[in-house]
Amino acid sequence: MFMSSVTTAPFILDGIAIASQIKSELAVEVAAARDHGYIPGLAVILVGEVPASQIYVRSKVKTCAELGIYSEMHTPPASSSTEELLHLIASLNARESIDGILIQLPLPAHVDTPRLLEAIVPSKDVDGFHPINSGRLLSGFPTAKVLAPCTPAGIMEVLRRSKIPISGQRAVVIGRSNIVGKPAAAMLINASATVTICHSQTQNLAAITREADILVAAIGRPGFVTLDMVQPGATIIDVGINRITTEAELERFFPGDAARRASFDKRGSTLVGDVDPAAFAVAGAYTPVPGGVGALTIAMLMANTVKAARLRRG
Ligand code: GUN
Repeated sequence: MFMSSVTTAPFILDGIAIASQIKSELAVEVAAARDHGYIPGLAVILVGEVPASQIYVRSKVKTCAELGIYSEMHTPPASSSTEELLHLIASLNARESIDGILIQLPLPAHVDTPRLLEAIVPSKDVDGFHPINSGRLLSGFPTAKVLAPCTPAGIMEVLRRSKIPISGQRAVVIGRSNIVGKPAAAMLINASATVTICHSQTQNLAAITREADILVAAIGRPGFVTLDMVQPGATIIDVGINRITTEAELERFFPGDAARRASFDKRGSTLVGDVDPAAFAVAGAYTPVPGGVGALTIAMLMANTVKAARLRRG
């Protein structure tokens, strides 16, 4: 269906619609959990007052309420020490009503982030960042039993629910972060894709990305993937969410786009992914920015919270 020729218009993978579908399914699961006498519960820790993190965290708490999941937010000051945060994590680890613990990243520079991530008991690690959980993912444990990172899990949901073939396909992931690139590669391998990870030191990058049937861009650089880097008919998953604020960038990425111009004039900025929008023209299918993968991350956090609640109760 998506192996379209160059002449076919690319299919837009609607992340918002897929996230809504997942959330509807989860609301049913949460209602069933309540019937069984428990309410899945999420604790979110936001250290300090980073505006972008505050927006993400509020959105996570709001989505919990929509689905009937209990949530609580902890907002220790930016001056908090690693020891103080370890103490908070220990108290949440011990609480029966808390199924998931999330520490919003990035943390202030003086905080020992790996130590905190390892302090969360793996059964409550709804971000899937604990080495036990990343090890289980890499070892190919059954998906139903692993808490895996939310953004790559969302990518896999987009591919599966859109019936994009994965097994035997050539997947190229640009970016090697622990949050997206590495776990996305592990999930694609587990789904029998042939996977290459590229990064800032990769040579002949375009030659590699042009071989991709599935191209995942997760590097955090606006419009990094250009038309010449894409195989016609490929599925492009654009994980980047970059805010652009200059006229030059607006003109480069959205020439003649009246709707973008209007929204840029109103807000003084607009969003572009890691893929130059001009590159989407040759794709078979692609996730737009905004409205693509971003919408899935919170839906998968909710899915992990419900899963953690279920797994903890056997
Ligand atoms: N910051 C950016 N992405 C993430 C994420 O997936 N989880 C957490 N905890 N922080 C983030």
